[in-house]
Amino acid sequence: MSQRDPYQGAYFTPSGGLVWHWRALWRRRYWTDFIDAVAVELARWQPPQRKLLLLGPSAGWCLPSDFLIRFESIHAIDLDPLAERIFRFNHGRVLQRMDVKLTFELENIFTSFDALIDRFHDHAILFPNMLGQHIYHVADTDTARLEIEAVKTKLAHRHWASIHDRLSGKIRSGRPLPSPLRINEAIKPDRLAETLGLTGEWVDHLTTHVLPEESERRIVGWRLLDDWMHIVEIGNVSPS
Ligand SMILES: C[S@@+](CC[C@H](N)C(=O)[O-])C[C@H]1O[C@@H](n2cnc3c(N)ncnc32)[C@H](O)[C@@H]1O
Repeated sequence: MSQRDPYQGAYFTPSGGLVWHWRALWRRRYWTDFIDAVAVELARWQPPQRKLLLLGPSAGWCLPSDFLIRFESIHAIDLDPLAERIFRFNHGRVLQRMDVKLTFELENIFTSFDALIDRFHDHAILFPNMLGQHIYHVADTDTARLEIEAVKTKLAHRHWASIHDRLSGKIRSGRPLPSPLRINEAIKPDRLAETLGLTGEWVDHLTTHVLPEESERRIVGWRLLDDWMHIVEIGNVSPS
């Protein structure tokens, strides 16, 4: 497992922090298709637990309050010291009104992942767009890939879901996003790019094997910036 992350508690990180909050504040109004797709997939996920462990939620800019209020309590963990305050700004009032207890922890989830999932053994688990960011926190590609891929084995007896980047790269301003897909297999990066009609260079976020091989998943495009697109995979898993 990774050592202590140098970005823990930092205001500027490659996967979140101030730049992400600033971007979300200004660009969220252009992200409605992506946010709606996330909401639809989260509505389809119906774990039996009333407690949620939210791993790397930032301020929940793309998470619907309607999903969060389905739980009695939520424990969130993020590296970003601003995440809690802004998350409470975004969702706090509705959570309070619906009597949902929210607690936050400043930590790298991979520092002691096994102990963490044991500590929250009675929670459903959501990775809300953080596993694809692991490549920015672990310099060695093989280590990053192994840690990402080990998640499904460690969570084999749990209800969990993940929203994660698969690919990212430049897109011409104004070019329409590829049509969303629903598939039942882990699709390799080259084939995914080809299926979506993408040409040029794409960052591989090493998340091909986050979900079990034959899990159903939704693939959607997200125009993060006017000329920068992420291809995001969303899926959920029940205990095997
Ligand atoms: C792209 S943001 C998530 C955005 C979120 N879905 C939203 O709606 O605002 C990724 C978040 O994951 C957090 N993160 C990345 N790696 C992490 C790790 N190993 N442990 C804890 N948090 C992590 C980052 O700090 C960042 O806040």
